[in-house]
Amino acid sequence: MRKTMTLDVQTIRKDFPILSREVNGHRLVYLDNAATSQKPQAVIDCIVDYYSRYNANIHRGVHSLSQEATDAYESARKKIRDHFNIKHSEEVILTSGTTHGINLVAHGFGTLLSQGDEVLVSAMEHHSNIVPWQMLCERTGAQLKVIPMNEEGVLILSEYDKLLSERTKLVFVNHISNALGTINPIATIIEKAHDRGAAVLVDGAQACSHIRPDLQALDVDFYVTSAHKMCGPTGVGMLYGKRSWLEQLPPYQGGGEMIKEVSFEKTTYADLPHKFEAGTPNICGGIAFGAAIDYLQEIGFEAIEAYEQELLEYATEQLLQIEGLKIYGTGKDKTSVVSFNIEGIHPYDIGTIVDKLGIAVRTGHHCAQPIMDFYKIPGTVRASFAFYNTKEEVDQLVAAVKKAKMMLA
Ligand code: ALA
Repeated sequence: MRKTMTLDVQTIRKDFPILSREVNGHRLVYLDNAATSQKPQAVIDCIVDYYSRYNANIHRGVHSLSQEATDAYESARKKIRDHFNIKHSEEVILTSGTTHGINLVAHGFGTLLSQGDEVLVSAMEHHSNIVPWQMLCERTGAQLKVIPMNEEGVLILSEYDKLLSERTKLVFVNHISNALGTINPIATIIEKAHDRGAAVLVDGAQACSHIRPDLQALDVDFYVTSAHKMCGPTGVGMLYGKRSWLEQLPPYQGGGEMIKEVSFEKTTYADLPHKFEAGTPNICGGIAFGAAIDYLQEIGFEAIEAYEQELLEYATEQLLQIEGLKIYGTGKDKTSVVSFNIEGIHPYDIGTIVDKLGIAVRTGHHCAQPIMDFYKIPGTVRASFAFYNTKEEVDQLVAAVKKAKMMLA
């Protein structure tokens, strides 16, 4: 029982077998949680249990195994629905991940947009929330416009106000920037878009490991996320869409069970959510996504948020003691991501040296090249913290970065 405001991090760490392994002769310090989180034993056991006991295809068979697998998969959908406070189960589309969810919506809007329409995207998006919309604009003749950000890595809402017009049909923004850690004011963004009659898609890939969004309260039109950043497996994620939108959008892929009836003359499509779930899904992944949600809920998002803020403040303070170190993303609403560079040193070189000391960070453009262009840098070193990280690990990172600086400067 760990549902307290203060986390028992040492006990929590025992849930993650990988955290006790060594890398390059040092105990692993895993600070690449924004790329993917580690998996607790409960999720690993869930995967083993599925393949050991009830592996079968779902929604397709009368036999007992198929029914057991179907029940487990649909019960995971219900867990996801409850977790995000989604009104209807059929508004939860299980996808292969955030990128799949965005492409599904972008494809669907191909039939709803035309020349003269405008879509707005924020300046701090991951490529996954830029490229599908550019492709959509190429197909439809709609125009893509960019909501700018300031030096702190915060969106300029007064510019957003100016961009919104009766031509705006869609707005895409991430809940939290993967490269900067900025938490965007999505409630305000959604409200302003709705005032102009535009729909909003929020990319929650970086958010859902840190906070628990209430999708009905947000009144968002589409929200996408991935299980693998939430202690679940890769290859599975969620697209939430308001039922009225999902009913308007055409299917993304054709396949076996996404139909009502098929003949060579005409095919009719299945009801939601199956209309958007062509092909055998990642059954085990979906079930394990549910197990990951159970695990996170047991720890409690209030405690996770409070503890990660402590880690963020400590890491920021300690890293800034290193002369020549600059942090990108300095807004006041931030989650536990610290993106930085040291003057005169390439981020890749820092990443390589700290890896030799067992510390995993991500280096590069983090699939957000427009952010790097904005700051006129090739990339950053990014340390991203989860609730199972410790202040001692922050100290190890700081010592390793100092060492790298000594070797490279
Ligand atoms: N989008 C992931 C990241 O930020 C992979 O690293």
